[in-house]
Amino acid sequence: MNIMVIGSGGREHTLAWKLAQSPKCTRLFAVPGNPGMAEVATCIGGVDITDNDAVVRVAQENDIDLVVVGPEVPLANGVVDALTAAGIKAFGPSQRAAELEGSKAFSKNMMRKYGIPTANYGVFVDAATARRCVATEGAPIVIKADGLAAGKGVVVAMTVDEAYKAIDDIMEDKAFGQAGSRLVIEEFMAGEEASLLAFTDGKTVRPMISSQDHKRAYDGDKGPNTGGMGTYAPAPVMTPKMVERATKEILEPIVAAMAKEGRPYKGCLYAGLMITETGPKVVEFNARFGDPETQVVLPLLQGDLVDIMLACVDGTLDQVDIPWSDGAAVCVVLASGGYPKAYAKGYPITGIDAAQAVGCQVFHAGTAVKDGHIVTNGGRVLNVVATAPGIHAAVDKAYAGIEKITFKDAFYRKDIAHRALERE
Ligand code: AMP
Ligand code: GLY
Repeated sequence: MNIMVIGSGGREHTLAWKLAQSPKCTRLFAVPGNPGMAEVATCIGGVDITDNDAVVRVAQENDIDLVVVGPEVPLANGVVDALTAAGIKAFGPSQRAAELEGSKAFSKNMMRKYGIPTANYGVFVDAATARRCVATEGAPIVIKADGLAAGKGVVVAMTVDEAYKAIDDIMEDKAFGQAGSRLVIEEFMAGEEASLLAFTDGKTVRPMISSQDHKRAYDGDKGPNTGGMGTYAPAPVMTPKMVERATKEILEPIVAAMAKEGRPYKGCLYAGLMITETGPKVVEFNARFGDPETQVVLPLLQGDLVDIMLACVDGTLDQVDIPWSDGAAVCVVLASGGYPKAYAKGYPITGIDAAQAVGCQVFHAGTAVKDGHIVTNGGRVLNVVATAPGIHAAVDKAYAGIEKITFKDAFYRKDIAHRALERE
């Protein structure tokens, strides 16, 4: 089979790396891909992945049998619908199903309608009414832009003033553009967070191994929010019992609800969960693989990813066995100095081979090739991933690997997986 991955980050490198291991994969393409993906795939640049016609054309030109979509924006644009209409199999939700991520108001309304546990909330279209809600409810309280905001449209306000400021930023100063024309205001939930991704064909739901992301930039969960500075899997808070509860109370009901609403959801469904005193509750749904969750989840998958994805597309997921390793995986993100604010690009990177030599996988997230040398080209530059029979050994191996890699002003968190280590 000829397979094409859409996207260019660490998540997509991990997807390509795993797909390439399948005996079914004859040729692998990446659009646009990155220098790391070029080791396992043919990268095709110059295609606008937000232009559905362009994506269909490049798939046809290369005789593609299966397209795997990484990022949320092409999904929200309906790239899966366009590929399907052209007779090309595509792994990922349709445009109407991807609204589960694309509109927080839609997602919350679905959860309310179908009794899926989540924080209480209200949806607001004007700032004055939103402010009145904050005045009544008090803090802590959570303010969210409705639309896609690259993970940045959420403010957990510890004071009423912070909440007012968030409303002003989102609604009046349009910090997230159109994404902020509606607001969701939510009850604050206390607990430990975990991510539970699942494969689904629209009927059957198969949870993957659980994971936990570290969203703050600095050690001790301090500093600004980022796209994610590291992950580990499995998350100890997601005991087998908790995974079963989340599957029965959240994943299966939302997939059934989407089918009932005429928006069958196929692909990877990502549930961001808060494990509260009364059980798992939804923080958010994403319509795609998590980044950097994928970097620790897929290395623990022992099944054939091509078979699983085809079963999701074809509606035969109930017939596929999905075995997981009982080991652990850790991903530490090596970032550019200054990230998540302004940072420089183009610094030469050394030591990737040395990190691989100590047994790490190095996935590229923001790199480029300049004069034959790998250089930095993003905020999150590399994802250093280690697997081992247990979490301690995986942490040690990942840090042994990341210490070998250098570029100017590089930084990384030293405490990835601390919650899991503390529990042991
Ligand atoms: P989201 O983009 O919806 O996942 O929100 C980003 C982050 O904000 C989450 O990972 C949580 O840490 C936090 N958050 C979102 N909603 C809530 C909530 N209702 N209660 C507490 N924390 C929240
Ligand atoms: N790691 C968070 C996300 O992918 O949305």
